[in-house]
Amino acid sequence: MRQLICAGNWKMHKTGRESVAFVDAFLPLVRAIPERVEIVLCPPFTALATVSPKLNGGRVRLGAQDVHWDESGAFTGAISAPMLREYGVQYVIVGHSERREYFGDTDLTVRLKTVAALAAGLTPIVAVGETIELRDAGKTLAHVTLQTRAALDGLSPADLARVVLAYEPIWAIGTGRSCHPAEANAVMAAIRACVPGLRDAPILYGGSVKPDNIAEYTAQPEIDGGLVGGASLDPASFAALCANASG
Ligand code: PGA
Repeated sequence: MRQLICAGNWKMHKTGRESVAFVDAFLPLVRAIPERVEIVLCPPFTALATVSPKLNGGRVRLGAQDVHWDESGAFTGAISAPMLREYGVQYVIVGHSERREYFGDTDLTVRLKTVAALAAGLTPIVAVGETIELRDAGKTLAHVTLQTRAALDGLSPADLARVVLAYEPIWAIGTGRSCHPAEANAVMAAIRACVPGLRDAPILYGGSVKPDNIAEYTAQPEIDGGLVGGASLDPASFAALCANASG
């Protein structure tokens, strides 16, 4: 049976204290989640220090929402991969559309961040997705395959084998307007095919994933889990979502 991944992207929500309250409520619920579901929490940077000891290398993995491409240097406000490693972070989201839209991430910096994450032993969750304008113009596949190739350009087969991808149509993020599972599946098939070496890469769907629709996504052959925003902020909701992912 395929391994599934459910990653909660908390975005700019929850202080360190609020994050601990989440984890305290969430961990007892994890027992009911099938083992085939890898559970990842991506709190804000400021909560890593409080959440990390609570997870303590157990079933629930720690992720971050972004990473800089250098190990250290004059980059005010940035956080590097070794800094994340210090807190037991194993996953990092790279290229989320909100980073691309509000913080100037480009195909080039997404690639640099992906390389830096891999070099530090982190698993990058590389996010791609199209705007509603591109979708309406019939350019979804051209856009997401371009983003995917750009992000993974030059990676060795060994590194490619460690990459996780996320397809997040921008028009579906936080809107309650999720992409039809069959449509997402078709886009993900194109993503998988556009770079040799992605045959076995996990690809997550993101965009208004909820406890009651995740199973429709993971039932699709190309979809290996969810990257979840709003529905990951409540412990019961996220636990139900992770459990339902397994069908
Ligand atoms: P959403 O966000 O689940 O709130 O739509 C998903 C994401 O941005 O990763």
